[in-house]
Amino acid sequence: MLSAAPLVPATLPLPDLYARVSRHIPSQEWPIFAQDIEAILSLKRERNAVILAHNYQTPEIFHTVADIVGDSLALAREAVATDADIIVLAGVHFMAETAKLLNPDKTVLIPDADAGCSLAESITAEDVRRLRARYPGVPVVTYVNTSTAVKAESDICCTSGNAKKVIESLGVNRVIMLPDEFLAQNTAAQVPGIEIITWAGHCEVHERFSAEDIREVRESYPGVAVLVHPEAPPEVVAEADFAGSTADMANFVGDKRPARVALVTECSMSDNVAVQYPEVEFVRPCNLCPHMKRITLPKIRRALERREHEVTIDPAVAERARAAVERMLAVR
Ligand code: 13P
Ligand code: SF4
Repeated sequence: MLSAAPLVPATLPLPDLYARVSRHIPSQEWPIFAQDIEAILSLKRERNAVILAHNYQTPEIFHTVADIVGDSLALAREAVATDADIIVLAGVHFMAETAKLLNPDKTVLIPDADAGCSLAESITAEDVRRLRARYPGVPVVTYVNTSTAVKAESDICCTSGNAKKVIESLGVNRVIMLPDEFLAQNTAAQVPGIEIITWAGHCEVHERFSAEDIREVRESYPGVAVLVHPEAPPEVVAEADFAGSTADMANFVGDKRPARVALVTECSMSDNVAVQYPEVEFVRPCNLCPHMKRITLPKIRRALERREHEVTIDPAVAERARAAVERMLAVR
């Protein structure tokens, strides 16, 4: 199981780490990676730091220096559980903000402060206030892929891994779900009887997949199991065998061990899961997330050396945003 499992004992020798990533890093290039990896492993010990890495991080981050890997939900849960002094979030900015919200007394670092997200960019706190005025009394469910200011205007947060449960937990027949239009539409299909008011935000990685892409994959790779993320358009989800969060997709491969699988999502996802299941054939219709790809080993090293870039939260919104995230974490 990939989500929230401690991954790399800091003592693992470098040749064992290389064995994990040898399919992705040519042996001639490994010494350059190894220098940063050794430095990061020793900086983590010196500074009592942990690295939380999202499933879309490249294999040389995911399989060598990360302490905890997972989807957005697992990373939020693990951020609460850690007793480290410093959390380095190898992922995008909203993930680091969520970790800081849940750990106001810890230092949270993001190796590149410009690692954003098209969904987080798609909506402002003022937009949410306007929606509330338009639909008085209707609860607002906000995807974690948003700024702290937007979370602060919300009743509760959700991730792709718990959206259905979060909506059902409210016990109402109408909710506003933002900003991901496709996640909202895909979740609406799972909760008949609950009306979901949507916002037109999209993930720039998943909105580009089409139903035709899935049909082509099936034609070219007979028997393939097609897994998609619920940020993809509903017509793409309709063509798939399974839709779920990045951790759900990894768990599907671990549980079902399909002979052939297509993870229709960000490109590093297949690379990372394939390391764990070498007997499974991975077909790779994928798109790169330019924001996730801003995080590199040299930047992680620099973040630990210089304690940069420290994530801070506007105190005016911190308490209300934290309440929305904590309400989500309480839903089981
Ligand atoms: P998960 O929570 O499924 O990992 O998704 C996060 C994300 O950014 C997907 O694009
Ligand atoms: Fe945002 Fe999409 Fe990138 Fe995830 S994959 S961080 S939702 S842009």
